[in-house]
Amino acid sequence: MAKHATRYNYADKYTEDSLIDYLYKCENFILVRHPEDIVRSFGAVATPTLDETCLPSQLEIFMLHAPYRYGTTNRETKKLQLPTVENRKEKPPMPVVLSEDLRDNPEGTLRALCKAVNIDFKPEMLKWKAGPRPEIDGCWAPWWYKTTHESTCFAPPRQDKPPPPPLSEDLQALVDECMPYYQFLKSHAMKPEVIERRGEDDGRNDAATTSQTLATTHAGTHAYAADPRNDSVLIGMRDGVTDTFSLVPRKDAKVSVFDSGFVLGDGVWEGIRLHDGVLMYVDEHVKRLYQGAKAIDMEIGVTQAGLIKMMYETVDANQMKSGVHIRLMVTRGLKSTPYQNPTFTVGKPTIVIAAEHKAAAEAPKVRGMRLMTTHVRRGAPDVQDPAWNSHSKLNCVAACIQANKAGVDESLMLDPHGFVATCNSVHFFIVVDGVVLTSRRKYILHGITRDNVMRIARGTLGLEVREDDFTLTAVYSAEECFVTGTFAGVLPVREVDGRQIGDGKRGPVVKRLQEAYVREVNAVASRGRRRA
Ligand SMILES: Cc1ncc(COP(=O)(O)O)c(C=O)c1O
Repeated sequence: MAKHATRYNYADKYTEDSLIDYLYKCENFILVRHPEDIVRSFGAVATPTLDETCLPSQLEIFMLHAPYRYGTTNRETKKLQLPTVENRKEKPPMPVVLSEDLRDNPEGTLRALCKAVNIDFKPEMLKWKAGPRPEIDGCWAPWWYKTTHESTCFAPPRQDKPPPPPLSEDLQALVDECMPYYQFLKSHAMKPEVIERRGEDDGRNDAATTSQTLATTHAGTHAYAADPRNDSVLIGMRDGVTDTFSLVPRKDAKVSVFDSGFVLGDGVWEGIRLHDGVLMYVDEHVKRLYQGAKAIDMEIGVTQAGLIKMMYETVDANQMKSGVHIRLMVTRGLKSTPYQNPTFTVGKPTIVIAAEHKAAAEAPKVRGMRLMTTHVRRGAPDVQDPAWNSHSKLNCVAACIQANKAGVDESLMLDPHGFVATCNSVHFFIVVDGVVLTSRRKYILHGITRDNVMRIARGTLGLEVREDDFTLTAVYSAEECFVTGTFAGVLPVREVDGRQIGDGKRGPVVKRLQEAYVREVNAVASRGRRRA
């Protein structure tokens, strides 16, 4: 639907049915601009009205197209028919694209849009020829399209521009009037795909690539392709107050602002993968969760087998098989008042099982990660035990932010004595003289993938594996470096603190470990659900 078409009020120009007919004849999407941007550029030429911003018409069209999402009134019985999960899958709502997403992450946004409307993404979509296009520009081009006509690709906003002056009172009032329409549409906007950041050395330095390189998300060790099926997944939730477990559509899956997780980050969690319908290493993950819960004196109120059953109920209700990642979150539960003492908790802990279609991107498994050492240390167990997979991960988040700011994939964190401990969301290994070396367990989360990889390296590959103190000096001159984690398995590291590791390419030990790990995961999955 061309944006100017939304200016016509369909009640005058079309019957509702003819508009619906038109909407279903072609693939449509709604491109939404922030009201302040609309009003600023429109206001420079004329004073717009609310209708002229097109936001009300866009909202009307979205709602008209979305009955299967929200329910519809049966014309004969006049009864409300609520949508089923099947309805939502068959007729997903019209995609909504935010123009700021398109500007900040053009490739990710177009890839997600192409997926939503079933067309193939092509890199040419990111470029165009400079100059006017009379066949589509419209009469307003001379006012608004000057910069577009000068451009040949999407470019990130210029950082050197001074902030715009405040809007006049009238225009600001119009922006305020537009906000509810915008907020609603925004809440249904598509999530751009996460594009792995390209290094400067990939030889693709044309204008379009450069703008994406500047604007894409730092996906790092957790790069994945966004999957529109996730919009309608069911989330497993155990309400601690009523002690009931239910499967709730993602958009309705909410916990109270008085939940201990929200108030204090008071809880523990696990990331678990589903492969061939089997939750991988689920016993180990659940055991670690219960260990953490016991350490923080939180009685989960369901057996380990009961919790595993809830997870299988969730993935089965979503008809999930492979390429699925679960975030299992258990917080201390609802608080009677926002204060830290756990005695101010009502009922049992809150359990949330967020399962998503989330396959790890393939390219980083070969190309490798770039790391930097952060000033944020892994603390001692008598401060906040790093072995807890606690809800609050603020020290990891602080380390992650530094990596983002530095434009690398992940931060390497030292222990209180200056030896290498781990990374902000994965574990770290080096290979020296053919020996695989990783830190001791003192300042790290006791990793399940980490343990599996060490076992495979020793058993299947016959390598010597040691847990010992080592410094950055050893890292910089290591033959190979790699990281491990539940999400992506084993990933090579090609650079640490600006030093190239080895020849900067994936090394033979990492490659063998990756292959052996995949074989092991397949073998474990082939044994089926032992506890289901
Ligand atoms: C800080 C941190 N390091 C490493 C990992 C990976 O641990 P695992 O080997 O159990 O996947 C996680 C996952 O939860 C983590 O939060």
